[in-house]
Amino acid sequence: MEYKLRKAEPRDVSDILRLVKELAKYEEMEHQVTLTEKELLEDGFGDTPFYHCIIAEIQGETSSDDPKVVGFAMYYFTYDPWVGKQLYLEEFYVMDEYRGLGIGSEILRHLSDLAMKTRCTGMMFVVAENNEPSVQFYKRRGAEDLSQEEGWRLFRFDKDSLVKMATPPEE
Ligand code: ACO
Repeated sequence: MEYKLRKAEPRDVSDILRLVKELAKYEEMEHQVTLTEKELLEDGFGDTPFYHCIIAEIQGETSSDDPKVVGFAMYYFTYDPWVGKQLYLEEFYVMDEYRGLGIGSEILRHLSDLAMKTRCTGMMFVVAENNEPSVQFYKRRGAEDLSQEEGWRLFRFDKDSLVKMATPPEE
């Protein structure tokens, strides 16, 4: 099956949100997705993009059909004060019926090339503990499980905690 990878454009936000929701459903956390297309548009395509996306699309059956977005990776750059620039893989998803065709591996190749070009020293990501197929997919490609090997634990302050810590609004 012919597919191509390209950088996401503003017109892709509805497909990005669709795939974000599909991945959340796969992880049985769909109800936690509250993001809107408007936020995706503002946050990814303004003066300071907070994320980037690579899109995988296949051609329609005939030349007049629109291409179909079947997978994506969302990423951004972070900084590790010990070793420097890191590419952070936030989301990675290929629609069920298009898996096993090499699209995911090609997306990772693209991101690895980008990481090399931007002189990143690693690619970080989080995988749900019960997502064993993906854990194995990453391990087969050499990924280290830092929770197991280095004992890191993932934390978050939610908005309520932030509000409590933030400067109270002036009366
Ligand atoms: N479904 C899944 N994997 C299959 C299938 C199938 N139907 N058939 C074969 N495979 C095997 C392939 O042989 C290949 O094995 P390999 O690791 O030995 O090469 C591997 O599974 C899939 O390789 P690709 O075809 O290159 O990758 P794919 O296009 O299937 O995309 C991905 C991989 C993105 C992990 C996809 O399986 C997926 O979307 N899974 C569900 C969502 C998910 O778990 N995403 C990652 C979350 S973690 C994060 O986002 C950081």
